[in-house]
Order: sequence, then C-alpha cells, then structure tokens
Amino acid sequence: MTRHFLKDDDLTPTEQDEVLRLALELKKDRFAHKPFAGPQTVAVIFDKTSTRTRVSFAAGIADLGGVPLIIDYGVSQLGKKESIADTARVLDRQVAQIVWRTYEQSGLEEMASFSKVPVINSLSDQWHPCQLLADLMTIREEFGQTKGLKLAYIGDAANNMGNSYLVACALAGMSVSIGAPLGYQPDLQVLERARAIASEFGQSVAVFEDPALAVADADVVATDTWVSMGMESEKQQRLETFSAYTVNQQLMEKAKKSAIFLHCLPAYRGYEVSADVIDGPQSRIWDEAENRLHAQKALMLWLSKQK
Ligand code: CP
Ligand code: NVA
Repeated sequence: MTRHFLKDDDLTPTEQDEVLRLALELKKDRFAHKPFAGPQTVAVIFDKTSTRTRVSFAAGIADLGGVPLIIDYGVSQLGKKESIADTARVLDRQVAQIVWRTYEQSGLEEMASFSKVPVINSLSDQWHPCQLLADLMTIREEFGQTKGLKLAYIGDAANNMGNSYLVACALAGMSVSIGAPLGYQPDLQVLERARAIASEFGQSVAVFEDPALAVADADVVATDTWVSMGMESEKQQRLETFSAYTVNQQLMEKAKKSAIFLHCLPAYRGYEVSADVIDGPQSRIWDEAENRLHAQKALMLWLSKQK
C-alpha cells in the first residue's frame, strides 16, 4: 500500500515523531540524504498561489537529489480537460512523488486513490499538514519537545490551519485551546478526533469565544489570516467578525512569559496580529518558514522508504 500524506493523522504519533527527528537531523546536515538521486522528478502542482510552499518544495527536492516539476494552475490539462484520475495515472509512471495544493480535500483523496506514488497535500481548504510539521519542529527547537505543552490558536478555527493545529498538536501530545467567534469554531468531527487523540496523552482540547481565556498559560500562541484563499468575497464581513481577535501584546501577556508566537504566513499586520507581536522577541515566524524546507524533506524522505 502506497503511503500518502493528505491530512495530519495520516501519520501516527510515532511516525510524526520519526519525521520530526529526521527534519531536525536534516537541518544540521542539509545534504545528508539523497533519495531522489538519479535524478528523479517530483511533481508540485499549484491550484492556489504560494511563496513558502513553492520555494521549500523546489529547494527541498533539489537538496534530495531530485528535480522539481512545478505545474501551475492553467498550464496543464488538470482541472479543465482532464480528470484527476487520468492525471494521476499519467504522473505516477514518471515521477517519484506528487505534491498538490488545491481546494477540495476530495480531489487529493481521488488523486491518492489512483496514484502508485505518494501524494502530499501542500494545502487544501480543509488541511495544511506540511505546515504543521514545520510548526511542531519549531516548537521542538524552542522547548526540546512537544509533550504536555499548550498551544492556543486564535481566529478562524474552521479553516485549514485550525483543523491541522487541532489534530497535529494532539498527535504530538499537546493540549490545544481555540479562541474563535461563533460560526468560526472547529468542525465537530475534527474536534472529536483531536479530543480522542489528546486524551490518549492525558491532554485536552478546549474551545472559547473569548481569546483571552484561550491564551491563558499557553506555551505557543498561533494565528492565521482571517481571509483564506478562496474566501475573498467574504472579506469585509470577516474583518468585522474577527475584529476582537487580533493577537496583540495585551493578549500575549496572558500566555506564559516563555511563550512563542507562530504564524504560517502570509501575515496581515494590524489584522490577525499586531506588528509588535509578529516582529517582536516572542515571534519565531522566520524559523517556522525555514522549517518548511527541512520538515518536507524529511517527509519526502520518509515516504520514499515506505513499502
Ligand atoms: N504558509 C504557506 O503555506 O505559505 P505559502 O502560501 O506562501 O506557500
Ligand atoms: N489559511 C490560509 C493559509 C495560507 C498558508 C489559506 O488557506 O489561505
């Protein structure tokens, strides 16, 4: 059975730990492993825009001895003239892995079901699991481990980052606390899944409408844009709904003194986060962005070794 990485819990806690250890190792010695030497090609498909994902996959595939084939929306037959299934059956005879940023999770599932090579979700409307590997790596670098730490996620908890924080942090043995307005709180199925995993580690998942309650005693405070890709038509209404959810210095003071701030980027200073927080001493956003490279290389390397 080919292994894919379509959502955070496609890795067990043990497997997530293996990938994160490998990522930390690769950060120390960037060219230590070359699973794609030959070189082999990895297809990286974008239906949405990207800076970090594009750069980190392209650089990472090159580091691993391979060649990235970047396919942007509108330049291939996928999505217009050709089905996902037929695209998968063409690609998997020629590339080592398929990385895809798209809208619907069901599209990724379809691609994976027809592909004999690993398919990696590099962001869908529902999940952003590669980002969470980078975030967990950043948390490990800061605190040495993740178990027993508390992450507070503030803002749109019904989006891809909200879902991925809940499940990936639970898998890493962390507690998660959400601060989100009504209508943007987590999907109940995702919440139940995260709670079930967290309870195995003696950890908890809590949801608050008041961001100050969510942030209380947190080790990590995270947020994301209030207007995700594809939501642009709702921008005005969203800016009003989320206006009390800016992560500013006053909110950061409710977290532990040692707390760090994370944001997957791109960030909108003055909206979901104030400039003094994101550009201040508690922010780890540049390590987080760099860690996309190391974490995804570890993931691709790990997937290349699965039978
Ligand atoms: N964080 C992230 O996925 O960034 P990009 O949209 O720039 O790839
Ligand atoms: N939630 C954001 C994440 C961007 C990396 C979006 O989907 O646009």
